[in-house]
Amino acid sequence: MSGESPVSGFELTEGLVYLDGNSLGALPSGVAERLDDVLRREWGAGLIRSWNDAKWMELSQRIAGKIAPLVGVSPDDVHLGDSTSVSLFKTTVAAARLRPDRHVLVVEPSTFPTDGYIIAGVADLMGLELRWCDPADPLAAVDEDVALLNLTHVDFRTGAMFDMAAITAGAHERGALVQWDLCHSAGAVPVDLTGAGADLAVGCTYKYLNGGPGSPAFLWVAPEHQAAARQPITGWMGHQSPFAMARDYEPTPGIRAFGSGTPPVLALSALEASLAAFDGVSVDSLREHSLALTDLFIALVEERLPGVFEIVTPREHSRRGSQVSLRHEQAYGVVQALIAREVIGDFRDPDIARFGFAPLYNTLDDVRTAVDRLEQVMAAEEHRDPAYAERNAVT
Ligand SMILES: Cc1ncc(COP(=O)(O)O)c(C=O)c1O
Repeated sequence: MSGESPVSGFELTEGLVYLDGNSLGALPSGVAERLDDVLRREWGAGLIRSWNDAKWMELSQRIAGKIAPLVGVSPDDVHLGDSTSVSLFKTTVAAARLRPDRHVLVVEPSTFPTDGYIIAGVADLMGLELRWCDPADPLAAVDEDVALLNLTHVDFRTGAMFDMAAITAGAHERGALVQWDLCHSAGAVPVDLTGAGADLAVGCTYKYLNGGPGSPAFLWVAPEHQAAARQPITGWMGHQSPFAMARDYEPTPGIRAFGSGTPPVLALSALEASLAAFDGVSVDSLREHSLALTDLFIALVEERLPGVFEIVTPREHSRRGSQVSLRHEQAYGVVQALIAREVIGDFRDPDIARFGFAPLYNTLDDVRTAVDRLEQVMAAEEHRDPAYAERNAVT
């Protein structure tokens, strides 16, 4: 995967530098055609027959087969169908039930808010205690009362990455389970859940996996926990024989018990088609390219705009995800002025300009162009434009 390789396989407009694949991945080639086929042939012509003929019920398993190698697990242990938030609710309740003698759920306060909200909701529902940990030392909060430590592998604001294996081992020594949110990891950095001995994981598919806006999340439960794991949304799609229409709920064995309702066929079909972009691409080559991109961005920002931004993303490769975050008092204006110059990043409150580098389609030339335009924005003080005083609903 050469840094200078032309963008191919993605429908990106010529001249646009897209550095927001850590929020919404770009549209891979072939997805629109595949969706059109699903709409017209499978749904339009096939109608109800397509549940069998087009094997819509098997979409989750087929997609699991493509995502599993990116996160170091077996496809048999992965389920897709709900949002990350709902998946997190299911896996967190299941985790708490796996440790009935413990009453504390640990979350880091700087994590993506939905993790904190969902886990606080689970704590409330189950009569458990929510405990915030120090992101600099999450294990310090883990003692013999802790059922689960939930962490986001790569931080959405700073791009800092936790040492998954070391933290998982440390939590296990204290008898706690560990759940990883892989939203900012899957498809961008190597993840080895099995090698790390992790217990549960969730991750979205609309960022580096390019599944499209709101595409269904994946969840993973380690095989050794599945027999005892009980998720709370006991719908018919987790039943051992949904079409027996039995009165009583009997979970199907294995990860499929994490299903609840009818699968979102259109969204899953788009996701399946988009994952073809990973065919024949090794995770190691993606990582190598991702680091080349973020290294170059950091070096150019430091060289060309010294002292203008604080680079909050760690320099050490082992602690860096696939984004670079720059702190600036007027970060919102900086991002908006860059968008006006066809460089798309995003803003996170209160003062972070975020640039995601998707190793599947970003090039070293994208990095050079982005920094050129950033220099122009700052030189002309375009970020001070009063038009940027009011923020959009989605930043
Ligand atoms: C770390 C993390 N977790 C969860 C989510 C979102 O969850 P959902 O897919 O339910 O919107 C995001 C979204 O950006 C995220 O960054």
